[in-house]
Amino acid sequence: MIPFNAPPVTGSEADYMHSAMASGKLCGDGGFTRRVQQWFEQRCHVPKVLLTPSCTASLEMAALLINIQPGDEVIMPSYTFVSTANAFVLRGAKIIFVDVRPDTMNIDETLIEAAITEKTRAIVPVHYAGVACEMDVIMALADKYKLYVIEDAAQGVMSSWKGQSLGSIGHIGCFSFHETKNYTAGGEGGATLINDPTLIERAEVIREKGTNRSQFFRGQVDKYTWRDLGSSYLMSDLQAAYLWAQLENADLINQRRLALWQNYYDALSPLADQGRFTLPTLPADCQHNAHMFYLKLRDQEDRDHLITWLKEAEILSVFHYIPLHSSPAGLQFGEFSGEDCYTTVESERLVRLPMYYNLTDNQQKIVIGSLLSFFS
Ligand SMILES: Cc1ncc(COP(=O)(O)O)c(C=O)c1O
Repeated sequence: MIPFNAPPVTGSEADYMHSAMASGKLCGDGGFTRRVQQWFEQRCHVPKVLLTPSCTASLEMAALLINIQPGDEVIMPSYTFVSTANAFVLRGAKIIFVDVRPDTMNIDETLIEAAITEKTRAIVPVHYAGVACEMDVIMALADKYKLYVIEDAAQGVMSSWKGQSLGSIGHIGCFSFHETKNYTAGGEGGATLINDPTLIERAEVIREKGTNRSQFFRGQVDKYTWRDLGSSYLMSDLQAAYLWAQLENADLINQRRLALWQNYYDALSPLADQGRFTLPTLPADCQHNAHMFYLKLRDQEDRDHLITWLKEAEILSVFHYIPLHSSPAGLQFGEFSGEDCYTTVESERLVRLPMYYNLTDNQQKIVIGSLLSFFS
């Protein structure tokens, strides 16, 4: 069976985890956590990066950090993972869903302004498949209406837009190191990128159960106390050790994924040119990270036939998000702004192909061969 995903393994994960175990400090903010955070601060040019248990936790931190209150509105695409919305609903916000662009499956930046009301507090662009949203337009709107931008860059680690790392452009960015992502912290993990320096001190407090324990550990205060709202948003150093092994090979992993992505693209382009399906689009300003390779077939029926065909050949391919606005919780906590021209129909015809660092050339040839025979 060729799986849809396998967590990346580079070889030094176990050694680094043993060394974390030998260090006598396995809780959050140990040596590996510091190394990983500094690596991202330098690589992404971000003033503060905080490792968290998941991107979900990072999004929740972001909602606390920008003081989302009951009745506030938050704009985002409906075509996203539940956590993008849930984090803000937990604070009492109403979610305003905006349609996606069919070329990138990202929020249609031209429709955001019409969704802004007096209650709007934030825009949450989701960089689908590690391909950037139109951040110039989004940041200009945020500036005009005094809104926060929280980038859901769960899939965007090592991608950039006009040379800026995804996650480093809005006020706050959120990364995922879940095992399905390009780099993993041993299965689960995330990071909060604090790009607005005025938010750093409070971010540390929120992450440390509402206390100023981070300042205490740095020797800046002689005891720590409860200061604010907060929760436990630290990653274990054992997980950071796993992640460090991946980051030491970050460029290797990225190059391998990009090569796999290009192999699919080159092999499938002739059929796409004949109109058999649509391939992903990469806007000129975007350097992607090959997080995902997807096809869009004519409709859901065609897409499901392909999934079944591949499954019979022992290849796992999967569809993706069920739009949030039509889900039971989405109906309760959100509202679609304007018309759903693309979110539902485009999501129904999308299928993702096996794509992971340790996918071998031979496995990929088998997947491509099976796809070509389906379409012939
Ligand atoms: C766009 C997006 N946001 C958030 C998440 C949540 O990430 P995590 O599993 O690290 O909480 C995911 C997970 O797949 C995602 O795709």
